[in-house]
Parts: sequence; C-alpha cells; structure tokens
Amino acid sequence: MSPDKKIMFQARLQRRLRELGINSFDMYAEKLLGEHSESPELAILVDYISTNKTDFFREKEHFNFLSTQLVPEFLGRASKLGFQRLNIWSAGCSSGQEPYSIAITLEEFMRLKGISFDYSIVATDISGRMLKALREAIYPMAQIEEVSLDVKHRYFLKSKNVHEPKVRVIKEVRDHVQLAYLNLMDNSYTFNTKFDVVFLRNTLIYFNSETQRRVLVKVLENMNAGAYLIIGHSESLINMELPIKTIAPSVYIKTNTI
Ligand SMILES: C[S@@+](CC[C@H](N)C(=O)[O-])C[C@H]1O[C@@H](n2cnc3c(N)ncnc32)[C@H](O)[C@@H]1O
Repeated sequence: MSPDKKIMFQARLQRRLRELGINSFDMYAEKLLGEHSESPELAILVDYISTNKTDFFREKEHFNFLSTQLVPEFLGRASKLGFQRLNIWSAGCSSGQEPYSIAITLEEFMRLKGISFDYSIVATDISGRMLKALREAIYPMAQIEEVSLDVKHRYFLKSKNVHEPKVRVIKEVRDHVQLAYLNLMDNSYTFNTKFDVVFLRNTLIYFNSETQRRVLVKVLENMNAGAYLIIGHSESLINMELPIKTIAPSVYIKTNTI
C-alpha cells in the first residue's frame, strides 16, 4: 500500500485497537506480525481496511450493455460453437450486489425474450465479511429503492419486520452465484473454467499501475479469446499494452490468447 493511505488506515484500524484494548499501533503490529501468516487477525485487518462500497445495478450502463449487446452477441457467436454455458466472474464482488445484479439482468433477458440458457457466476473477494454477506443475500430495503417495482417483486423477498425492512434475493438467483475467497494479488488463480465475461469494477483503483497490470494479465489468462472485460467507469487501462480492445466505455474484448 502506498504511504498516502496511512491516514485512512489509522482511522479504520483505530476501532479495532479499541476493541482489543491495545493503545498503540506498534503493539498492534507486534500482535499481527508476531503471529504466523494464517492468523485470524490478518483476515480481520483486511475486513477493517478494505473499501466495500457497492450497490445494486451500480453503473447501470454496464447492465444495459449486458442485456442489449453482450448477451445477444455472445449467444450469436456461441451457437455456432456449440454453446454450453455463459461463464461470468465478478472479481472484487463485495457484499454481492454486483453478482446478483448480473444474475437478475440475465433472468430478465431470458424472461423477456422467452428463451433459456445456462449461466454461472463466480463471485470472489478478499474479505470474508463481504463473502458472508453475499452468502446471506439479505440487504436493507433502501438499497433497492431505485430498482423497478416489477424487478423488486420478482427477485426479492420482503422481511416482515416493519421497523428495519430488509429484502433477500430469491433462491433461484442465489443458486447461480458461487462464492470463493480470492486475493487478486496471488501469483496465479485456479478456476476450473475460463470466463466469457469478467466484471472487475472499482477494485483495480486500490492498486498501483504496475500491480494493476500484473492483476490484469492473470485475469486475462483466465478468459476465453473474445471474452468481455468490464471495469469501473472511473478506471482506465490506457498504456497497459494488454491484448484487449475497447468496444464501449469501460468495456473491452480480449483479442487473443495469452
Ligand atoms: C469498492 S468494492 C467494489 C465492488 C463491486 N465490484 C462494485 O463495483 O460495486 C472493492 C472490493 O474489492 C475487494 N478487494 C480489494 N482488494 C482485493 C484483493 N487484493 N483481492 C480481491 N479483492 C479485493 C474489496 O474487499 C471490496 O469488496
């Protein structure tokens, strides 16, 4: 992490130090570094310092692109090659709103077109707390305020608690999302499939450009040629010299195998 993150780290870790009754960062560092690398405190530290901001249908142009262009194009191409399943990866998925928004978009696409195809979404994150929230798939009702009534009724169950209204994503949608712990900084990733679409949004921003490139090379290794890579609107892959070409704002296609 770059030194300019120090203030943010201090602010976020202060609460953890209070919980542990530790009153100096040196003592905390001793506790952390004195334990071996699999120590539970390391995972807790990650939960305290990671930025997990997300939302249902965040950057909605990507979901419009998915249903109006990406899926029709993919199905057209894939039908000639003997289509089996659309494999999607939501990398840095946070508490699940992104993978569930993808699944709902695909369900709506199939419903409106009167067709059906198989798809799977692998959702990965470094934060155990976020993966737990994804597994539960329970969110404050306010988070789906902007979602159309029809989609709300079709894909969310409402809690009976009127004081703290919550919703849960329905099982049919949850079942399409498999979660896994994955640190994008790991040397290599092990998946048992190559992906046709990767959402890697608002996660690269936390890495410096050299690390971003390293991560992107590994991500691209796990994608089929012709697969789609979607990054956040505020991110950029300029001058990265990667085998990709832009096809829409913040949407790329992998041009060859690496
Ligand atoms: C701001 S959220 C983005 C969530 C979602 N992709 C979106 O755009 O709404 C960034 C996520 O990246 C995860 N993250 C940060 N560093 C990571 C790493 N090295 N490996 C995997 N995930 C990481 C964080 O835990 C967090 O959940």
